[in-house]
Amino acid sequence: MNNQNQVIFFGGGNMAQAIIAGLIKCNIDKNKLIVIDPDKNKRQEIEKKFTVLAQEEIKNHEDNATFILATKPDQIPLVCEGIKGRINNQLIISIAAGVKISFIQGRLNNYDQIVRTMPNLVAQIQKSVTAAYAHPNLKKTNKALANFVLESFGDCIWVNDEKKLNAATAISGSGPAYVFLFLQAIISAGENIGLTLEESQALALKMLQGSAMFAENNISKLETLIKNVTSKGGTTDKALSHFKEKNFQKIIGNAINAAYKRAEEIGDN
Ligand SMILES: NC(=O)c1ccc[n+]([C@@H]2O[C@H](COP(=O)([O-])OP(=O)(O)OC[C@H]3O[C@@H](n4cnc5c(N)ncnc54)[C@H](OP(=O)(O)O)[C@@H]3O)[C@@H](O)[C@H]2O)c1
Repeated sequence: MNNQNQVIFFGGGNMAQAIIAGLIKCNIDKNKLIVIDPDKNKRQEIEKKFTVLAQEEIKNHEDNATFILATKPDQIPLVCEGIKGRINNQLIISIAAGVKISFIQGRLNNYDQIVRTMPNLVAQIQKSVTAAYAHPNLKKTNKALANFVLESFGDCIWVNDEKKLNAATAISGSGPAYVFLFLQAIISAGENIGLTLEESQALALKMLQGSAMFAENNISKLETLIKNVTSKGGTTDKALSHFKEKNFQKIIGNAINAAYKRAEEIGDN
């Protein structure tokens, strides 16, 4: 695998820009990156920010280029229409939530070198965890290429069933928003009990970062970790009892289930 393959983005929005930032950090030659976006302002923004080429429509490209479908899901048919005459050997990576591989394949004259993925927004700092599903006919070389691209902005977890991408959407795709909400609630609670906003932000953020890092090496022992912070009748015990009484786990479970169902609905439309 080399880092000299051309990568062409269809859609230059938040996610495409996050991925471009990741690829550039991986020393991809900027001359190999092209963004196709109808929005002139977006194209100017991208050219200024990344010094990569941004075009209104696809013009020339290399045969071994990777095409990344990064528009909103409802634009995918239009993008497929625009590229179907150009497909010969390219790897196609879709990041569009809910759009099935069969949908894309059906619009590309049955072409099957397609990977469907679910990244998340922290791709911007190369910390995305991206769930990926490969068309069963995907060539090994294309899988390696996809893995290289996806790991340029974080970790990549390959799943063996496309339906799992809906679960990944509910966990890791939407997940950063849950964490930001939790963080916001803790910061606000801190202010309510006498901390300044800055103090509460610093304490809450560092606590969350440290806890996540610690959990990384103890992920199968979360129950033990909780017990280690908790002494009977103490402060943590009080807070945990309150969470339990208010069905914290059920609230989280229901919220994630709602996201999962929505991902399924989008995929069925
Ligand atoms: N944001 C996330 O956290 C996240 C996470 C996982 C997956 N995703 C998926 O990533 C995809 C992109 O999301 P985003 O947040 O980056 O969206 P976004 O910021 O709206 O970016 C989409 C871009 O595509 C452009 N576009 C529209 N039609 C096009 C066409 N026919 N050809 C080329 N470009 C076109 C849009 O231009 P206009 O604005 O002019 O329409 C816009 O600049 C979505 O499918 C989403 O499901 C997003």
